[in-house]
Amino acid sequence: MELYLDTANLEEIREIAGWGVLSGVTTNPTLVAKEFAARGERLTEEGLAAHLRAVCEAAGGPVSAEVTALEAEAMVTEGRRLAALHPQIVVKLPTTEEGLKACRRLSAEGVRVNMTLIFSANQALLAARAGASYVSPFLGRVDDISWDGGQLLREIVEMAQVQDLPVRVIAASIRHPRHVTEAALLGADIATMPHAVFKQLLKHPLTDLGLKRFMEDWEKVKP
Ligand code: E4P
Repeated sequence: MELYLDTANLEEIREIAGWGVLSGVTTNPTLVAKEFAARGERLTEEGLAAHLRAVCEAAGGPVSAEVTALEAEAMVTEGRRLAALHPQIVVKLPTTEEGLKACRRLSAEGVRVNMTLIFSANQALLAARAGASYVSPFLGRVDDISWDGGQLLREIVEMAQVQDLPVRVIAASIRHPRHVTEAALLGADIATMPHAVFKQLLKHPLTDLGLKRFMEDWEKVKP
């Protein structure tokens, strides 16, 4: 399972890319808005284009950039513009009627599409039939309403395998390290997570304690 960061923050991307384990990045309008607000910058077409290009360079892999249009024709126009920014851009579309129409048209043009906001296996099936390269079921938001995000992912992964769907499954809306383990065991192709969860994947108190003891013992006898 590949590991993606779910962020629009360049420092976070550069840090995790430096570990040598980052395969890609996903963004969404909320994450981009948060990033520009934190920098006190007004969002402009040019600013967004420059930022997405920088994200692509830092990520070194696919970067999902989401359209904000809600109607198919406008989604296609925006999707083409996003895809033209950098070869690593994957256009993210919401799983709606208009999103499906835009997905069919963009994928026919060779643009890779990530269908987002997926909350049922049938939505994933529709996205795959519309030519999506990726589908993003939202585990955390399903768990948030006391349903089972793991069960949603299980059904989508199994459906993709049984039906031999040419689509990669991204476990999204990851809230904690256990979600990552669960996604890997269920056979997700990719898990995308916030920077804080990425850091939690590595951290273990026994690793820190063990290293401390090794160093103390070595200090006593080192040449
Ligand atoms: C997926 O690509 C989304 O950007 C993301 O995982 C949403 O996560 P959230 O539910 O934490 O906002």
